[in-house]
Formats: sequence, C-alpha cells, structure tokens
Amino acid sequence: MPANEFDNSRRRFLKTSATIAAASTLPAWFIEESRSRAATTRPLSPNDKPNIALIGCGGQGRHDATLAGKFANVVAVCDVDGRHAEAASKQFNGAKVYKDFRKLLERDDVHALINGTPDHWHTLINLAAMKAGKDVYSEKPLTLTIDEGKRLVAVARETKRILQTGSQQRSDARFRLACELVRNGRLARPTRITALLPAGPRGGPFHTSSVPAELDWDFWQGQTPFVPYVRERCHGSFRYWWEYSGGTMTDWGAHHNDIAQWGNGTEKTGPVTVEGKPLIDMIPGGYTAASQYHVEYTYANGVKLTCASIVTDGPDGSHHGQPGDPIHGVKFEGADGWIFVTRGKIEASKPELLTEPLSAGATRFYSSDDHMGNFFECIRSRKPPICDVEIGHRSVSVCHLGVISIRLGRKLNWNPDQEQFVNDAEANQWLGRTQRRPWTYELA
Ligand SMILES: NC(=O)c1ccc[n+]([C@@H]2O[C@H](COP(=O)([O-])OP(=O)(O)OC[C@H]3O[C@@H](n4cnc5c(N)ncnc54)[C@H](O)[C@@H]3O)[C@@H](O)[C@H]2O)c1
Repeated sequence: MPANEFDNSRRRFLKTSATIAAASTLPAWFIEESRSRAATTRPLSPNDKPNIALIGCGGQGRHDATLAGKFANVVAVCDVDGRHAEAASKQFNGAKVYKDFRKLLERDDVHALINGTPDHWHTLINLAAMKAGKDVYSEKPLTLTIDEGKRLVAVARETKRILQTGSQQRSDARFRLACELVRNGRLARPTRITALLPAGPRGGPFHTSSVPAELDWDFWQGQTPFVPYVRERCHGSFRYWWEYSGGTMTDWGAHHNDIAQWGNGTEKTGPVTVEGKPLIDMIPGGYTAASQYHVEYTYANGVKLTCASIVTDGPDGSHHGQPGDPIHGVKFEGADGWIFVTRGKIEASKPELLTEPLSAGATRFYSSDDHMGNFFECIRSRKPPICDVEIGHRSVSVCHLGVISIRLGRKLNWNPDQEQFVNDAEANQWLGRTQRRPWTYELA
C-alpha cells in the first residue's frame, strides 16, 4: 500500500503543535502576541467530559480520537471493518463496538463524534449525526462533491450543530501568521498565490481478490458504484481513486487551498474561473484520480491561484528531491516580495516582511492553537469553530472545481454566489454524483 498523508501529517502535527515559543522560525513579536491571544484549551475535569464516538477507526480516526481523549470519553467506536473496530475498542478502554453508524447514532448518551471515514462517507454520516443532535469533528476533505457541501452547511445551520473540519493547519501559528500578514496588506498588491501539492501515485493495474473476512466491502463502498474488491481501492489508498476521493488534489488541496482562501480573504466564497489539466495519463486498471496536474484559478479580486502537483514530494508529504527543489506549501506573492508557508516553516523574500510587527489597529484573526481543543471549546460555547462547516465546504470546493476541470479538460466559469457553473449544463452535472441505494441523502 502506498504511504499516505496520515503518518507524515501526524509526525509533523505533533512537532509543530508543540509550544509556540519553541517554534524558532516565528518572529518574536508574533510569539509574544500569540501568548496573550491563546485560547484556553485545557483538558476538562473528568466530570465535565462529554461522551464521544469514533466512526471510521483507521489511521487518522484513531489519531483524532487520541487527541480528543484529553477532552472527552470515547465510549463507542464504529467501523465496517471488524478488525479496525476491535483494535480501536482496545485502544479506548473497551469502547462499545458498532458496525452500523445508524445504530450508534440512536444513543442519547453520545454527544459528539469524530468522523474518520473515507471521503465518500463523510457527508451521509455527518448529516445523519447532526440530525440526531450530535456535534461533529469531521476529517477533511469535508465532502466528495460540492452538492454535499451545500447540504451540509444547510443542515448544520438548521440543527445548530457545531461542525469542525479537520483542516488542522488553521490552528497552526505559522499558517495564521502568513495569512494575517497578507490580509493586512504586508505584500503590496497581492497578485498570485501558488499552492503546491505532493503528486499522487500512478499505480496499477490492480487485481481483484477475495474480501477479507472482517470487512463488509458492500457497506464500505456506500454510495459509490459497486465493484469487486481490489485491495488498493480500500484502506488508506482509497484517496487515489476518483470514485472515493479526488487524489492529492483533494487530500492535500483541502489543506493548502484552505490556506490560500484564508490569506486571500475568500474563505466564504470561491474563484470565478478554473482551468485544469492532467500532466500525465493514468494507467488503465490503476488509480483513477489524476496524479500530476496543473490548475489555474482567478478570483473576482484579480488574484490568481495556481494549484499544481510537484513530484519532488511523495504523496505522504515527504521530500525526496534535491535541496532547493520546491516543496509543498503555499506562496503568496505581491509586487514587492513573497511569503511562503508550509508545515514547520515560514519564509519571506525579505526578513522584515515577517519581523515587522502588525500595527495595533491591524485585523487579527480568530486564533486557535489546538484544533481538537477548539472543537471542544465550541461545543461548550456554541460559537463557530475555527474551521466551521462553511469554510470546510468552500475550501474543498476549490479542489472539486479543479478536479472537475481536469476531468472535463477545459476552462470553466464559476459563480461562487450561486455555486453553479455559468451557462454550462455539462459541468453542472458534476456538482453531484449518482448515489447507489440505499446510501442516498434520504438515508440521512
Ligand atoms: N487532517 C489530516 O491531516 C488527515 C490526515 C490523514 C487522513 N485524513 C483524512 O481522514 C480520513 C480517513 O483517512 P485514513 O487514512 O485514516 O483512512 P483509512 O482507510 O485508514 O480509515 C478509514 C476507516 O473508515 C472505515 N469506514 C469506511 N466506511 C465506513 C462506514 N460507513 N462506517 C464506519 N467506518 C467506515 C474503514 O473501514 C477504515 O477503517 C480521510 O478523509 C482522510 O483524508 C486527514
């Protein structure tokens, strides 16, 4: 199985979410200011911990539930693969095991859940959970389609549920610093943003085999077209199949395009044009999501966003190029310089772009230094979390637009207010997908 984003992101997250003071590349003024702005995300007393459930007990779900353990009791775990559910139950003090999330959602004593399922399952579970009164920490990319995102935002507002998107770069001081500087005019006339993403694998052809005894393969596929079991379609590497995800364009794009939108001040809207192309043919019978691609977007404010894959970084984010080769991350460019940010690193064309403090009257962002802690803070305060449902939806919409343009092979005009392609019935068909019964919206 190819490496995936999980191991790498966890390593880096643990490294970069250590205390702000230890992050030597952050300017002193920002460290000082961040101390006074830091939210209090202390573990709760044992009596004040909500009960939560984990749905989707793979690598990331179990990592998230471990982080949540500081703030909550994990009382139930659910997975369509019995091995994963049993392992999670062992890890979380014998939490009750479920296979069908609908049964779990019937429990009144479960207040919130972590959704660590593959992308094609996020929305149906999130919709059902919110309608059952649960708050949700859902992994990114938040949705499989733009249509799913619109429904999710509507239901979150209707049910008044908290939904934190698992785009944890929002709670990483370096990314906030870069975006805050750009939004406060640190770069003169910002004109271009470049989001470089690790290229995906181009494996195949892959072969069918018998379904592992503990896995319900039909259930795992959910709303997607039924196909015979192929190991590479399932755990971990599902993200390289268009049927279940969008390749690294959505896997890493949900992180870096989220930052591009934040820095550009467009986090609740989107671009007005998109033009994408694949850079290499995929292998018949192998992964279906484009592994190498180049996408150009324009925004109504005149800023251009380039989102492109780079082969010097593996899909897990590891760098295997030469020193000096580009690395994945986000670069903001203006007339007089640039700021580049990635996990563990922030750089600028001139040191003073970072070292000069923001003025007292500058716009300060919502600040979080613990993404999971912020979720539990918001469960108590009922305030929107740092990566609220609408932001998660709009960020992954940028990625979905890229995927649609790559697949159609042409430039598209997008109306971000109506969330429709302009006079383009063919492209608009791709806003949703045909769902396989019974895993349709009616279910939720
Ligand atoms: N925030 C991050 O940095 C980060 C890092 C890695 C992964 N992720 C995201 O987390 C999600 C999971 O990724 P992963 O690498 O852990 O995948 P994975 O394949 O290891 O785990 C997914 C688990 O969900 C289970 N599952 C599938 N359908 C289910 C259903 N209907 N009900 C219950 N369980 C179901 C699978 O059997 C599997 O155990 C993905 O959306 C991925 O993009 C986020």
